[in-house]
Amino acid sequence: MSYRISVVGLGYVGLIHAVGFANLGYRVLGYDVDRVKVEKLRRGSPTIYEPGLEEYLTRALSSGALEFTDNIEDAVLGSDVTFITVGTPSLPDGSVDLSQVASAARGVGRALRLKRGWHLVVVKSTVPPGTTEGLVAGILEEESGMKAFKDFGVASNPEFLREGSALRDFFKPDRVVLGVRDERSRDTLLKLYEPIEAPKIVTTPKVAELAKYASNLFLAVRVSLANEVGVVCKALGVDCYEVLGIVGLDHRIGGHYLRAGLGFGGSCLPKDVRAFIRLAESLGVQARIARAALEVNEEQPRRAVELLEKHMGSLKGRRIGVLGLAFKPGTDDVRESRALDVIRLLLEKGAEVYANDPKALDNARRLLGDKVKLVENPQELVDAVEAVIIATEWSEYENLDYRGKIVVDGRRVEGARRTAKVYEGLCW
Ligand code: UDX
Repeated sequence: MSYRISVVGLGYVGLIHAVGFANLGYRVLGYDVDRVKVEKLRRGSPTIYEPGLEEYLTRALSSGALEFTDNIEDAVLGSDVTFITVGTPSLPDGSVDLSQVASAARGVGRALRLKRGWHLVVVKSTVPPGTTEGLVAGILEEESGMKAFKDFGVASNPEFLREGSALRDFFKPDRVVLGVRDERSRDTLLKLYEPIEAPKIVTTPKVAELAKYASNLFLAVRVSLANEVGVVCKALGVDCYEVLGIVGLDHRIGGHYLRAGLGFGGSCLPKDVRAFIRLAESLGVQARIARAALEVNEEQPRRAVELLEKHMGSLKGRRIGVLGLAFKPGTDDVRESRALDVIRLLLEKGAEVYANDPKALDNARRLLGDKVKLVENPQELVDAVEAVIIATEWSEYENLDYRGKIVVDGRRVEGARRTAKVYEGLCW
């Protein structure tokens, strides 16, 4: 049987999965509450920048495999499996805001009342352990009048997509994690993921949910550890990339997530570390290493600005450029970007801030308004300022002419070292 899939919530994760499953040959219905978004996607215009997305989206739409709707009933009734892929942002205390998950479950549950036959609801959003079997299954039962894990299935299936390579990660994941409680849900998900070649780990929903947090915590800790080593290296006058290069060759350690610099941003790592800390606290455990990872991460943008002051003195009224606004190259996403922290600190010091990004200018404009002068051409930005801080390692910044400028490099862009008047690596 070829399953029909619905995807509830067309943000980053939802859209990639809708397009991905459609390209695997499934019929997919993508649903979002935002009508403007649905309309845009129907026209084949991606709502985010992600390499390859436009081509895959166009292909799926023209083959008829993918359709978009703003009616959740149509989405659920027209499918056998529903993925919940809504956002789970941080609340001010760092815990997880599950309101979108709850309202998605409510919508799906109401539609299930009208459904004939078995249906599977899969939670893909990153949620604290226990949410799938507790909150989500509870709401679905309440709204549908049916019994979870019997009349319909509920499962957890976390995603591990990296922005910038999300489609590749969808088609070629390191592992597929299936948190299930009943056989039918397990068999359905195993069948659904059959076209994807990867180890399939079948476990409980709670283990699956926690594995996602633990993975992101691990990555965040590695980056902060690299940064801590980096700061010590800088104090000793040695190159931390050389040191960490040697460290990473140990197969027990591996070379990934050891790039020292401004630290980790984005929609997942910071938020998931905060959520892990809250989760641990709620269980009476002190998450010391997770806390330390956040502390080190917060310090890096401050260090960059201090290095600038070392060379320039007061920044008041001085023209400073920030190269890169996206939280990493290959995306237009500025959520929790380290560049935004750098900019905030520069503005606090009274600097006149100029910024560039190859993809994220529109998203940055929405957040920064007219506080910062956004410049489309990176060379024009460099020419217009006294000093620059490199916040994202876009390849576009490698071959700029930095002559006569002070450069504080937060991301190891070698080209800047070659031409800058003063070059200062953040921790090398
Ligand atoms: C991350 C996880 O990798 C992914 O599995 C999960 O599903 C979502 O969160 P993403 O947010 O796209 O993905 O970014 P990632 O590539 O992991 O990078 C996160 C941040 O860490 C970026 O700001 C990046 O610049 C920074 N980073 C990464 C470093 O500073 N050094 C490194 O060595 C690696």
